[in-house]
Amino acid sequence: MRLRFKPNAIPEMKENDRVFFYPRDMKGKWHEIFANDNPIHLEIGAGKGDFIIEKAKANPNINFIALEMNTNAFVIASRKIIEQELTNVIGLVDYAEELTDTFDENEIDHIYINFSTPWPKTKHHKRRLSHPRFLERYEKIIKSNGIIEQKTDDLSFFENSLKYYEDFGMEVLESNFDLPEEKSIVTEYERKWRDRQKPIYYAKTKFK
Ligand SMILES: C[S@@+](CC[C@H](N)C(=O)[O-])C[C@H]1O[C@@H](n2cnc3c(N)ncnc32)[C@H](O)[C@@H]1O
Repeated sequence: MRLRFKPNAIPEMKENDRVFFYPRDMKGKWHEIFANDNPIHLEIGAGKGDFIIEKAKANPNINFIALEMNTNAFVIASRKIIEQELTNVIGLVDYAEELTDTFDENEIDHIYINFSTPWPKTKHHKRRLSHPRFLERYEKIIKSNGIIEQKTDDLSFFENSLKYYEDFGMEVLESNFDLPEEKSIVTEYERKWRDRQKPIYYAKTKFK
């Protein structure tokens, strides 16, 4: 996803009190911020926020955190949080690499990774958000039996991801090599692939 640099994205997001930048001092305090004990679901690489906004509207008793490092994309998500007056969504400008500085042990119930970069070259595989290097981080912040859901349009990345989950000792609850549209929240990015008749791959896995 290539986006033009938007010089006003950061100042605009800093005006939104539901968007936090690299919030290291909030570790362990996210339930306080939401002011309830509802489960917290985290999307990593949330882009323009289409997925998490729809999830949040449909699930008012779940707290959602959208994490994204690209402010040019994320300013769109920030606007949607304000416009739709969603009190169960928070945005974080942050890096997945820093998750354990942002969240405490057991603070997260569920993680979504939608259409993250497939990084096809072997030397870059460790940058994949399903790589064991990241699973180690997720395991630290997620509750026992916590769930990861992943969608991608890249078959090789998907097959490798299933192996990462199994090798990590996770249980693959569902793997679908052609996720029907009616079972998906279709983002702008996903729409592009579906319009080209490309299958969407989906996995639901559980930490043991
Ligand atoms: C192809 S986009 C998909 C966006 C959205 N999930 C969707 O389905 O429309 C992948 C997003 O992941 C973000 N991303 C990739 N690696 C990341 C990382 N290490 N930390 C935070 N965000 C990351 C990118 O900036 C990009 O916005």
